[in-house]
Amino acid sequence: GLPLAFHGTAIHAKSADELQILENCFILVGKDGKIQAFQAGVEPDQINSLVSENGYAPDVFPVKHLKRGDFLCPGFVDTHNHAPQWAQRGVGRGISLLDWLNKVTFAHEAKFEDPEYAKRTYASCVAGFLQQGITTASYYGSHHGEATRILADICFEKGQRALVGKCNMNRNAPDWYRDSSVSESLRETHELIQHVHQLDPGFQLVKPIITPRFAISCEPELLDGLGAIAREHPDLPIQTHFNEAKQEIEFTNQLFPEFQTEADLYQKFNLLNGRSILAHCIFLQEEEMRRIQELGCGVAHCPIANTTMQEFMIAPVREYLRRGIKVGLGTDSGGGYSSSILDAMKQAFIVSNAQQTKTEGRDPALSLSECFFLATLGGAQVCGLDDRIGNFAVGKEFDALEIHTLDLDRPGVMCLVEEEDTIDVIFEKFLMTGDDRNIARVYVSGRSVKA
Ligand code: GUN
Ligand code: ZN
Repeated sequence: GLPLAFHGTAIHAKSADELQILENCFILVGKDGKIQAFQAGVEPDQINSLVSENGYAPDVFPVKHLKRGDFLCPGFVDTHNHAPQWAQRGVGRGISLLDWLNKVTFAHEAKFEDPEYAKRTYASCVAGFLQQGITTASYYGSHHGEATRILADICFEKGQRALVGKCNMNRNAPDWYRDSSVSESLRETHELIQHVHQLDPGFQLVKPIITPRFAISCEPELLDGLGAIAREHPDLPIQTHFNEAKQEIEFTNQLFPEFQTEADLYQKFNLLNGRSILAHCIFLQEEEMRRIQELGCGVAHCPIANTTMQEFMIAPVREYLRRGIKVGLGTDSGGGYSSSILDAMKQAFIVSNAQQTKTEGRDPALSLSECFFLATLGGAQVCGLDDRIGNFAVGKEFDALEIHTLDLDRPGVMCLVEEEDTIDVIFEKFLMTGDDRNIARVYVSGRSVKA
C-alpha cells in the first residue's frame, strides 16, 4: 500500500494507568503498515519538513487533517468471541450456561457443517466486527474443520487480524455436534495450523489458536493431545473457558475429581502458560490467581455475558490488575448479546462499580480510561501481540480507528460535541455514547478495512 499520514488528535494507552490524549499529532505510516513517525504538538507549518525528514516529497505528500473533535485511537481487541454464534446473538438469555449450550447454542453451531452457510455467515460476522472497530479478534470456530478454515480465509481476505481456533469438543454434546474421536479432533486442529501456515506464512495477520472448548467438552486424551500440540508449537496461543459458572465448575470437578482447581487441571494438560487466554475467570481461588499471574496467563473479561446469563457474575478485574495479571475485554459475542467493544467497555465499567460496592470499596471501580486500556493495549497483551499492536508506539503496526464525532450542524444521537468541549470531554462522550457510526475508518496494518 501507500504510506499514510495524519495530523490531528490521537488517544492511546501507554499502560494501564497512563492514558495519553495528544493534540496536533503527526503520524506517518510506512508502506509496511508500521508507524514510522509519531510526534505530538506539531503545527501545520512544520508538517512539510517532517514529511521530507522521513524521506517523502513534501507538498505532494497527502496528509489527512482531522477536524476538531475527531481523533485516532488504536483498534479494539476482542479477546474472546464465537464466530458461529454470530447469528444467535441475543437468543437464550436467563438460563444456565449448560442449558444454554445444550438448548440453544449447539444447534446453531451445527449449521456450520455446511460450507456455503459458513461462507455467508462468517463473511457477515467478520465484516460486522470490523465495522465495530475490532481490528483484532480471538475467534472460537465451530467444531468443523472446513468451516474454521473458511473463517481463517475470510479474516485474511478482509484484512482482520485474528486468532482462529477450531473448537475441540468430543463429549457432553450431542452426536450431531461433536468431534467423533480424539484423533479426528486433533487431526482437524493440525489441518487448520497447516492451512493458516500456507495462507499467511509467518502468521502476519491470522494465527491458529489451540481451542479446547472447556474441560467438560474434552476427554482427558483430547486435552493430552492438545497439550502436545501446544508443546510442538510454542508460537501458538491457547484459549479456553475458565471458571465461568458455579454449575460448570461443579461438573468439571465431577469429571476430573483428581484436580483441586481448574488451574491444576489445565496446567496438568500443558494448556496453562503465558500463551493462554482464559475467558471469564469469575470464581478463581487465591491459589489460582497466584498461579495465573506467575505463568503469565491472560484474562478475557466478558462482562456482557457474565451479567446476562442466569446470574449477575463479576470478575474481580481490579484485583487482577493489582496482582499484575494481564486483562483484556471480550464481547463473547453469542454468549454476550453485543458484538461491540464499546458496549463491553461500558459493561466493564458497570460491573466494576458493582464490585466496588460489594467489596465496600476495597476494589475501586475501573475508570473509563482503564476500560479503554483493556479494550486496546490490555487486549493486545492478552493475545500476545503487544509487541506489534495496542497503541501508537513507533514501530508497531498501524491498527487504528478514525473517530468522527458529531456537532449541532451534523445532527445525530451519538457522541455530540459542543464548542466548549475539551478533548477529554469529547473522549468521555465517545466512550459513553458513541457507537459504530462514529467509527468512520478502520485500519489494520495501515490498510483501510471497513466496508
Ligand atoms: N463454555 C463452553 N462453551 C461456551 C460458550 O460457547 N459460551 C460461553 N459463554 N461459555 C462456554
Ligand atoms: Zn465464550
